[in-house]
Amino acid sequence: MRAETVASVSMLAKLALGQSVINSGNGFGTYYYDIEHPQSCFNDFTNMNTGFVECSQFLPWTLNNVHSNNLVAMNHTLLAGNLAKFCGKRVVVSVNGQPSSTPFFIGDGCERCGTGSSSNTQWNPNGAPGLDFSFSALDSLNSNACNAGHIDISWQILDETLYNFDTNAPGQPTGPVNGGGGDPGNGGGSDPGNGGGTCSWAGHCQGASCGSDNDCSDDLTCISGNGGAYLRGKL
Ligand SMILES: *[C@@H]1O[C@H](CO)[C@@H](O)[C@H](O)[C@H]1NC(C)=O
Repeated sequence: MRAETVASVSMLAKLALGQSVINSGNGFGTYYYDIEHPQSCFNDFTNMNTGFVECSQFLPWTLNNVHSNNLVAMNHTLLAGNLAKFCGKRVVVSVNGQPSSTPFFIGDGCERCGTGSSSNTQWNPNGAPGLDFSFSALDSLNSNACNAGHIDISWQILDETLYNFDTNAPGQPTGPVNGGGGDPGNGGGSDPGNGGGTCSWAGHCQGASCGSDNDCSDDLTCISGNGGAYLRGKL
């Protein structure tokens, strides 16, 4: 409990320090995939997890490749108009005005979230403002997620990159942002397997090319993409 309080206070402090908000809104949270629990809420998300994410345009990168339940899909129309601006950016999601400390980041487009008016307060499965999440993430925001299918949320997208895709960070290896000091939501620097700037086997750290998991330092894994395979860790 205490740890949670400290985390949310430090997040609010960060917001207060003026990290710029590049988009915000009120609407509905829904779910469409789940990496950690592919069988949940009477669904099998196995096929959804193999879908390509909109934020990777050259490297065919799936939800499984991203391997994080914190990826969020946003208004597809807005995202498609400026992938570099929104992809990989931190999203602070609030339920009943309480900001979650989960390090959500933009990775995909949501058709429903871009259809209809952005000020619509009525739920409509064919068009209503909001975000689309993994089931586990939505369920942790509101335990009524499975029953209701959609929950009320508000959000702020901050100008802080948590994940490098080829759209927002061309030339960088696709994966969680390295370093990040003491912020666990940003791949804390002390855990090499979690996106830290260094790893215990030089040359075999995140983003290096690889042939198999045997080439990977620590708990990184070797993931194939177009034209090669790359080491990555979990966000
Ligand atoms: C989605 O974004 C577009 C482009 O900015 C905007 O015109 C539209 O109102 C947005 N739709 C919703 C539902 O937020």
